[in-house]
Amino acid sequence: MENHTKDLQDSTMKVSSLNCIDLANDDLHHSVVSLKQACLDCGFFYVINHGINEEFMDDVFEQSKKFFALPLEEKMKVLRNEKHRGYTPVLDEIVDPENQVNGDHKEGYYIGIEVPKDDPDWDKLFYGPNPWPNSDVLPRWRETMEKYHQEALRVSKDIARLLALALDLDVNYFDSTEMLGKPIATMRLLHYQGISDPSKGIYACGAHSDYGMMTLLATDGVMGLQICKDKNEKPQKWEYVPPIKGAFIVNLGDMLERWSNGFFKSTLHRVLGNGQERYSIPFFVEPNHDCLVECLPTCKSESNVPKYPAIKCSTYLTQRYNETHAELSIYRQQN
Ligand code: OGA
Ligand code: NI
Repeated sequence: MENHTKDLQDSTMKVSSLNCIDLANDDLHHSVVSLKQACLDCGFFYVINHGINEEFMDDVFEQSKKFFALPLEEKMKVLRNEKHRGYTPVLDEIVDPENQVNGDHKEGYYIGIEVPKDDPDWDKLFYGPNPWPNSDVLPRWRETMEKYHQEALRVSKDIARLLALALDLDVNYFDSTEMLGKPIATMRLLHYQGISDPSKGIYACGAHSDYGMMTLLATDGVMGLQICKDKNEKPQKWEYVPPIKGAFIVNLGDMLERWSNGFFKSTLHRVLGNGQERYSIPFFVEPNHDCLVECLPTCKSESNVPKYPAIKCSTYLTQRYNETHAELSIYRQQN
């Protein structure tokens, strides 16, 4: 109990100050330097002036709330499928089994990229169609989410150009069809409830680093997200990342850490619930399904050889999803 109180006090007091990347800033050099510093330091930064209208963002959050307010029975009609799209109930996911007694106290909704039916890649795991809630129940919902997906993808590509420069790559390095030209990009509506208690292993979202290349997180104004800049330090120090209205909180994922030979950092983060309801929308960005993630040309040298074997993007992601989500069959047994 003592430890728990201390943990909460410590984490309540510490608020992280992250670099802020202004996408409307003409001083590209400044942006790249600031971004690079953030990527080397903790892999988290804010992005402002990204061009997504604030009223539209509010609308997306409104629509998200409407979905989660539906009766469970209605939500279960669009339960997550084998392609990792759709509704994930409370406790479905456990990201930090060492420290969590049960799954995350959050419910979610995955919306992935849709390629047209005549596309040869149509049936690939992370492409293919999304389930949608009935439009009579939630009119305009699908349109709103599809528009957000498009806009967030555009912002991701803008950030990826800065990342390329920060990695001494050609500015368009990530733009090709093999990479972000035909990406895996998955948005996830999240709804948190309840009070977390780290001493009892109860978390809104357990400690984890994201799997992919990078994540653009939009949140409402409710605090909850914490980062741990040095995962090896004991005891771990957690700092809150306060939401900034209109800004994305962007973080690098494990795939980019691997791709950059450990040069850029993916950072441990978690969410603590304080009893208030909290809504957030992470947008997970990964390259093409078939992209071979192998050490970037600028991140290796004779004295710094590649640390990780090459792996196909979809293989890597599949492993990570399967490690963290419940078996779908448990829901069939319940019904
Ligand atoms: C995630 C995540 C943080 C949040 O979904 O990977 O870290 O604030 N979300 O919802
Ligand atoms: Ni995360």
